[in-house]
Amino acid sequence: NTFRMKVSCECYIQYDTVSELEGLDFDSLPKPLLHIGQGSNLLFTSDFPGTVLHSNIDTLKYVDMGLDDIPVIVGSGVSFDSFVEQVCGHGLWGAENLSGIPGEVGAAAVQNIGAYGVEVKDIISGVVCYDLQERKKVKFGVRDCRYAYRHSLFKEQGTKGRYIVTSVLFRLSRVPSPKLDYKGLREALEGVDNPSPSQVREAVLKIRASKLPDVNEFGSAGSFFMNPVVSKEVFDRISPDGSAPHYLLEDGNIKVPAAYLIDRCGLKGEMCGGAQVYQKQPLVIVNASGKASPQDVLALEQKVINAVQERFGVTLHPEVEHI
Ligand code: EPU
Repeated sequence: NTFRMKVSCECYIQYDTVSELEGLDFDSLPKPLLHIGQGSNLLFTSDFPGTVLHSNIDTLKYVDMGLDDIPVIVGSGVSFDSFVEQVCGHGLWGAENLSGIPGEVGAAAVQNIGAYGVEVKDIISGVVCYDLQERKKVKFGVRDCRYAYRHSLFKEQGTKGRYIVTSVLFRLSRVPSPKLDYKGLREALEGVDNPSPSQVREAVLKIRASKLPDVNEFGSAGSFFMNPVVSKEVFDRISPDGSAPHYLLEDGNIKVPAAYLIDRCGLKGEMCGGAQVYQKQPLVIVNASGKASPQDVLALEQKVINAVQERFGVTLHPEVEHI
């Protein structure tokens, strides 16, 4: 796991193909089952008593390069960023704003990862899974996946853990469609007329590097909290003059950056044991000492939640999945 929590599991299984997955004797495996990608959005709070599964399905196939809209079928074990790099290199549009996100393709489709104004659902047309309940292959169209902000069918109570994503069908485009409205992106491309997907990718990577910790330097799981959605009334209380950063949603509610609220509580750099609120982006908790325990991270999480609750009456919810 990228948080570098020193935990173990009873059993770990990595498979290379769908038939290998289908051939597993699930009944005899230690329970519960947990399927992970790169472990880049997980906080293990203790050792895991069951079986951890991991896909190493590394296929990537362009269905038809002759079309304007190019379908690409990608195995769940492919690193998401290597997929993005490759399609950008082919001059295909759609994935470039999602550059530099850790993790793998299967987990990206479960989590509906997003950055710089794009969510992965915007380029997904279907998801192929193995249904652990019916023990058979099942395909979902993008609408069936019930995608929302960092949410999908695969995370919902009742279906969580039932489907193992084996491949994802993406639809990318030859037609230029740069999305540069996210703050700072257009500025990072100043002087570049008609940027290519790879040039947008480079700009995104540059912005990410200036804000987010390098996982090779500090263990972390990216954004630790979700950005809360509040009513107009609560927003007016947070920011009577309206100057706080915010995004107005279609339903009239307002999304406020958790980073802003945490920052205003003066918690940048705050530590519990080896865990720390990251200085450059307080939305992220890092394993600053390299030896932080799950308890250190949990204590810091609670401290942040309590401070934001007390000061603004807003409850932050973790984005990182606790196991
Ligand atoms: N801010 C502060 N103080 C700070 C830092 C930021 O007040 O020290 C405020 C600024 O006003 C800034 C705002 O927070 O404009 C938002 O920050 P940023 O644009 O960096 O994005 P974010 O809302 O913090 C989200 C995603 C990130 C994604 C970025 C870029 C979530 C939970 N996080 O962060 O996703 O990279 O937007 O699109 O939605 C992840 O999920 O792991 C992740 C990194």
